[in-house]
Amino acid sequence: KIKAAIFASGTGSNFEAIMETEQLVCDIALLVCDKANAGVIVKAEKYGLPTFVFDAKQFPDKAAYEKAIIDRLEESEISWVFLAGYMRIAGATLLDHYEGRIVNIHPSLLPSFPGIDAIGQAFRAGVKTTGVTVHFIDEGIDTGPIIAQEKVAILQDDTEETLKKRIQNVEHQLYPKVINQLLQTK
Ligand code: GAR
Repeated sequence: KIKAAIFASGTGSNFEAIMETEQLVCDIALLVCDKANAGVIVKAEKYGLPTFVFDAKQFPDKAAYEKAIIDRLEESEISWVFLAGYMRIAGATLLDHYEGRIVNIHPSLLPSFPGIDAIGQAFRAGVKTTGVTVHFIDEGIDTGPIIAQEKVAILQDDTEETLKKRIQNVEHQLYPKVINQLLQTK
């Protein structure tokens, strides 16, 4: 079975959705997290999953912490990386090492509303339709070849909270499905 790692910085609802997926075609073998107090770490403990927690400030630069991440990934024989709310831009060190094998999920229809608070951005912009994108990453912020998108309508009586809930529900369905489709043929 292919071994994959999830990178996350926050709550970990997407992490949990992936972990709860029966018949996932890969083994999630490691969580990588850049925030020592992130909720996702507690969730990983619940599954007995090994975690690599790092503090970027303890390293001289991005290349140095990404090198440390890669060493840990190699130790666990990780061949694919799934970003699930990992709020850092990948650098050349990581991108070169896992070329074409790093996937991200983002809560908008990219290229609209990249970056932080994509749901709030779409809500405030007053668009009628937003959604979820799963894509390969490159050196940009939420850019790179799109793999799958799903639309979510913004309803007349939506609040940012109700919209967020519907978008996250779509994320939790879509991400495991896309992971399986991507890896099935590998
Ligand atoms: C998710 O909505 C994910 O799409 C988003 O962060 C959230 C993490 O939630 N990612 C980005 O905005 C990437 N630019 P979670 O920790 O509950 O999975």
